[in-house]
Amino acid sequence: MSDQATLNASCNSQCNESGNDWTRLRRESGNALRKRTIDHIKASTTDLAEGTMQVELGTYTDSARHEQEKRVLFRQRPVLAALTGDMPEPGDTFLFDEVGPPILLVRNKAGKVNAFLNMCTHRAAKLVTEPKRKNRMSCKFHGWTFDLDGKLVGVPGKEGFKDINLEERNLIPVPVAEWHGLIFVRANPDGAPIDVEEHLGKAFARELAHLELEKARPMKTSRIDVNSNWKYAMDTYGEGYHFGTLHPSSIGALAMSNIMSYDNYGPNHRLAMPRAEFLEYSDKPEEEWPDTTYNGLYYIFPNVVINANSIPGGRQFYGVARLFPGDKVDQGTTLLSTYKPGHMEDKHPETEPWTEMHDFIHKVVSTEDYSVSEDGQRNMKYAPASFKPVLGANELALQNIHRHINELLEQDSK
Ligand code: FES
Ligand SMILES: [Fe+2]
Repeated sequence: MSDQATLNASCNSQCNESGNDWTRLRRESGNALRKRTIDHIKASTTDLAEGTMQVELGTYTDSARHEQEKRVLFRQRPVLAALTGDMPEPGDTFLFDEVGPPILLVRNKAGKVNAFLNMCTHRAAKLVTEPKRKNRMSCKFHGWTFDLDGKLVGVPGKEGFKDINLEERNLIPVPVAEWHGLIFVRANPDGAPIDVEEHLGKAFARELAHLELEKARPMKTSRIDVNSNWKYAMDTYGEGYHFGTLHPSSIGALAMSNIMSYDNYGPNHRLAMPRAEFLEYSDKPEEEWPDTTYNGLYYIFPNVVINANSIPGGRQFYGVARLFPGDKVDQGTTLLSTYKPGHMEDKHPETEPWTEMHDFIHKVVSTEDYSVSEDGQRNMKYAPASFKPVLGANELALQNIHRHINELLEQDSK
């Protein structure tokens, strides 16, 4: 029997239409990651790169490079704009303004997500300014009206425009693709269509599919503006080396420092930084491990972290952090969102544990991690030109990020 046939044969009501038992696959994948991490705890080891990596100061301080990153990483390539749960119903709209051109996402009557420049085709006013559920979208300037597929369907005072072809004034689309709960856009009307599985790579895509993000419901979103390069902020998400020192009474009390299991998927990766509670069940058989708590941290290149982690009491949350470059090289923005996984809904109809977890993470990130980012950014501005920040072999996830960003920028410069 093939793997897929075995999967289909073992499917029950939890299987989706493609025959995958995501619940079982999620558990198996999460347990394998936990097992490796528990072995690290017991042996006092961590996954390591072959050596250190030194980073040029200009990585964080060069304004020309900053503009190149915005173009190459955030406007030429697909970026994560939303999750399905952010705009689940026909007529739902979602605004994505973080990568340059304001982007309007709208789910049409058939349930398909469209993406457009959020620009009225009369005189370029911002078409949708509040992301509400809509049947049609009307511009607040002169009232030009568009349907959910971007077609211009209403022009007040039409006689004023009788010498132009209004059929050529539909909204300007940008490539968009929705896949397993993730909605990617390419913020460029001339950009190629998006194949999400190809973009993520098949093996990494399969790991993400386990999470069933299409069923995740948003609990709370917040924004953090930081006076540091977006990558300095990004670097704080990819290593647990700092937990005990920077976060002694917050994250450091929940998770162990400087222990990591690391799985590489090209520019993407998945990693585990152990929670203290792993030790409570590390000597028990796997069947007795809590099954809904920990699946690791998924990094989608270049700017997304999905933390599949737990709230005390066995509840799971998905914490999604998306980081974006600011106007200047020493400015960045983070959109933090906390979702309740679909498999939590039956047993846990409440929402407070998820919103409280969101507030906790927001506070730790903004007051602890990003205070270091801002101070470090200021220091790098004045550091001797010969100084190079160094990423340890234990900071291998950060090495992977910087290496791939550097490669893409070098290719672009050729
Ligand atoms: S700019 Fe939108 S109707 Fe005039
Ligand atoms: Fe941190």
